[in-house]
Amino acid sequence: MADLRTRYMGKELRNPIIVGASELTADMKKIKKLEDAGAGAIVIKSLFEEQIELEKMKLEEDLTRYDEIYAEMTTIFPKIEHAGPDEHLMWVRKAKESVKIPVFASLNVINRETWVEWAQKLAETGVDGLELNFYTVSTEFDLAGSSVEEEQVKILKAVQAVVSIPVSVKLSPYYSNPVNFIKKLDQAQVNGLVLFNQFFQSDINVDKEENIFPFNLSHPNDSRLPLRYVGLLYGNVKTTLCANSGIFTGKDVAKMLLAGADCVQVVSTLYTNGLDYLTTMLKELEGWMDAKGYKTVNDFRGKMSRQNSNDPWIYKRAQYVRLLMHGNPFA
Ligand SMILES: Cc1cc2nc3c(=O)[nH]c(=O)nc-3n(C[C@H](O)[C@H](O)[C@H](O)COP(=O)(O)O)c2cc1C
Repeated sequence: MADLRTRYMGKELRNPIIVGASELTADMKKIKKLEDAGAGAIVIKSLFEEQIELEKMKLEEDLTRYDEIYAEMTTIFPKIEHAGPDEHLMWVRKAKESVKIPVFASLNVINRETWVEWAQKLAETGVDGLELNFYTVSTEFDLAGSSVEEEQVKILKAVQAVVSIPVSVKLSPYYSNPVNFIKKLDQAQVNGLVLFNQFFQSDINVDKEENIFPFNLSHPNDSRLPLRYVGLLYGNVKTTLCANSGIFTGKDVAKMLLAGADCVQVVSTLYTNGLDYLTTMLKELEGWMDAKGYKTVNDFRGKMSRQNSNDPWIYKRAQYVRLLMHGNPFA
């Protein structure tokens, strides 16, 4: 039987399927079920800036209110501390203590000081690693892309300076030259890269003329983007690679490993097919490895990467070359 073990962020995983940050990892019953279904690791739902800000606002409101009434209001302070982000910390600690598989925390905030403060607090919960979710949609017209990248590298370094657990970065694909930015993160010794996040996109209900926020699940073809970048990066970076987006089946996992990923993160497939589908994915991966005669993941990891391919165009301009050489595939 195939050995599915892999390494990610310096940790050994029993297999390469990690359940990504989502509501699935914000519920203890589901976390246990995911562990039973075979998850290699889990990433807890992110702690968001909004949670921290809301808490601060609530705190200020409460402080002002009580200030007027009691001079000794500071005695009330500790009670308020145990809501919002602090509850999140307690939850992360509980999740870590409840399962045997590696548990990673996830953070998505804005200001560098907030990144540092909450990264440190999340690390203190005992988690195995920390994922910095660099999810940002800039609305500042005067902010250059290079400034965004420089700040994100500074955030990574500032976090690394205060925590001793491994730190990964989860990226969107929307950088002018993602591989250049990834090289900078790699030089800063990031322990893992999650490629790529899916942005929550809002929509408009034209009948009601109102903004809506539909549940954004991936589609299987979304996996082609991470596949391309994993294939390009394999052998060119020291960090470990975790493919994410549109990975639905065991064979999709095999594809990512062939391209050079160390592991994958999945969310949408479990929402679509149920939590037990993780077991089916693992069986499919195992069956494929057995059929191919692969005993371990390292027997084939990166075999189909750009570095190990004879075709210099693969992962680069493959679609244009195909059109030029073979004409319209739909004709
Ligand atoms: C309901 C839901 C909640 C999510 N919450 C988070 C989150 O808290 N932090 C985060 O980094 N990503 C979050 N994500 C994104 C997923 O972790 C993942 O990156 C994305 O869904 C792409 O993977 P998939 O194609 O397997 O779904 C969420 C996704 C969904 C569908």
